Amino acid sequence: EKGTYPHFMLKEIDEQPFVIRNIVQKYRNDDGSVRLDDSIRQAMSAADRVYIIAAGTSYHAGLVGKQLIEKIAQKPVEVHIASEFLYNMPLLSENPLFIFISQSGETADLRGVLVEVKEQGYPTLTITNVPGSTLSREADFTLHTYAGPEIAVASTKAYTAQMAVLTLLAVNTASARGIELDFDPIQELGIVASAMETLCDQKEELEQIARDYLATTPNCFFIGRAADYFVCLEGSLKLKEISYIQAEGFAGGELKHGTIALIEDGTPVIAIATQSHVNLSIRGNVKEVAARGANTCIISMEGLEQEGDSLVLPKVHEYLTSLTTVIPLQLISYYAALHRDCDVDKPRNLAKSVTVE
Ligand code: M6R
Repeated sequence: EKGTYPHFMLKEIDEQPFVIRNIVQKYRNDDGSVRLDDSIRQAMSAADRVYIIAAGTSYHAGLVGKQLIEKIAQKPVEVHIASEFLYNMPLLSENPLFIFISQSGETADLRGVLVEVKEQGYPTLTITNVPGSTLSREADFTLHTYAGPEIAVASTKAYTAQMAVLTLLAVNTASARGIELDFDPIQELGIVASAMETLCDQKEELEQIARDYLATTPNCFFIGRAADYFVCLEGSLKLKEISYIQAEGFAGGELKHGTIALIEDGTPVIAIATQSHVNLSIRGNVKEVAARGANTCIISMEGLEQEGDSLVLPKVHEYLTSLTTVIPLQLISYYAALHRDCDVDKPRNLAKSVTVE
């Protein structure tokens, strides 16, 4: 039930700090280490390469998951769009592990891949919000995202929950491999949950950004580099699906290879700047589009902010920025859809779970 909330989407956005804390509780040992089934730990250790298969928002979580597993556990990962994988199968490594990320656990495109790779005898793990679901039942192992039912068609809390679980999977794999971490993941996820709370309390500012940038525009660009690029993909999907504004997520450096031709007077460009090693470059890209008339909005993070930034996020660990950066993008999309009288929870042409190929 949505209680006093006008929409499930807003309720589900607000639930994210609780969801992250809940996941930490579920997967935490008393000594502060990460608890996962031994079978999953072994499967991750035995794999020479991980193949993440997903669709939509879960695919975007997979892109972040690749970075987390490669950086934290030093294991190579590929991420594939489920509907493309079977028809364009890459050369597989000798001992692959397949991870299926799916909120619903029912997405037909993923099931097609699962059936095929099982036939070939490869181990499979499903990360899902619905443990009794088809993908969960049919895979060898399951990790539950514990986000609670997600009703709005636009996925919000399931996405951040997926990234939190992928973090813990990466950390657990690192410990199995004897890799020492220079940060405490449980503590850092706690900091993320508090930062999410702060951002959820900034609704008025975010509603104003939606008004200033998106009230009448036919299109919008999200630009970022490194981890911020993946969140831009998610931010643009969110905006498209609920407000019907044509939106594109772009790698900052790629703009000048063609897309910058689309920038006109007043075109909104929302830039994310939470990555220290590319802070100057993304700001350079903002100047490039501003010089061509774009209406630019910069969302940065404490320690990297500059005068004129529209929103400064609380500082979180550099591996975990995607979990907090997405919150303002979810809220901006929500308010843009609301101002445009769109059906926020049930956008046109979409179903909550896509059970046909
Ligand atoms: O249930 P799944 O995670 O497998 O669903 C995948 C996509 O259909 C889903 O994420 C979709 O993109 C959402 N509507 C995005 O908000």
